[in-house]
Amino acid sequence: MRKPIIAGNWKMYKTGSEAKTLAAGIVEKVQKVQEVQIVLCPPFTALGAVAEAIKGSNIELGAQNCHFEDKGAFTGEISTAFLIDAGCKYVIIGHSERRQYFAEDDALINKKIKRAQASGLIPIFCIGETLLERQKEQTFDVLRRQVLHGLQEISATDPERLIIAYEPVWAIGTGVTATKEQAQEAHRYIRDLLAGLWGSETAERIRIQYGGSVKPDNVAELMAQDDIDGALVGGASLDADSFAKIVGF
Ligand code: 13P
Repeated sequence: MRKPIIAGNWKMYKTGSEAKTLAAGIVEKVQKVQEVQIVLCPPFTALGAVAEAIKGSNIELGAQNCHFEDKGAFTGEISTAFLIDAGCKYVIIGHSERRQYFAEDDALINKKIKRAQASGLIPIFCIGETLLERQKEQTFDVLRRQVLHGLQEISATDPERLIIAYEPVWAIGTGVTATKEQAQEAHRYIRDLLAGLWGSETAERIRIQYGGSVKPDNVAELMAQDDIDGALVGGASLDADSFAKIVGF
């Protein structure tokens, strides 16, 4: 059985004090939830405040990016050791905004996933096609390239130590969600790719989140799909009430 995992990606929103207030609100509203793993991914500068606010709760901490080296002269970068020290268990890697605006390619993302796993963090590895790619019927080709390159030379993986997030780029921040059929089809395809890499027993245990305009009113039908094991939530995670409703789907 795959335990659902719902994460809030706060992107470049919330100062430390704002993050503390939001996290405290979420802690209060989700305290009774046991059957879903809950993760908050605030900006780097708010990790400390959120770690403090969620202490002793059923919520875990994640970051939104990391560097691929363990240390060195890399001005402005954040290592996985810093994230672990700040209380993180997860790190989002390869988000489409990083691919699009910061030129992250599959090879770089592969290095980051390896670094995250080697240091003990669980990567939330993001993949997904653009609108143009979907219109050109290249969705499966793109997913195959992203999965195979992103996970290159990762010969075996503990299924608990890798999360995949399928986020069709055209559904992010647009209010347009993939239909449950589109999402399920992509998730099944991704799981089949994982089975090709590591066998079906491992693939059946890896959690695949859906991301892209997840809201309280569409989360239940998405989560009801066989291969959808959670959600990576952007905009709707910035409000305690709506994020709590999503977690309580
Ligand atoms: P939205 O939920 O705002 O569409 O963002 C999704 C996302 O990018 C989560 O990583």
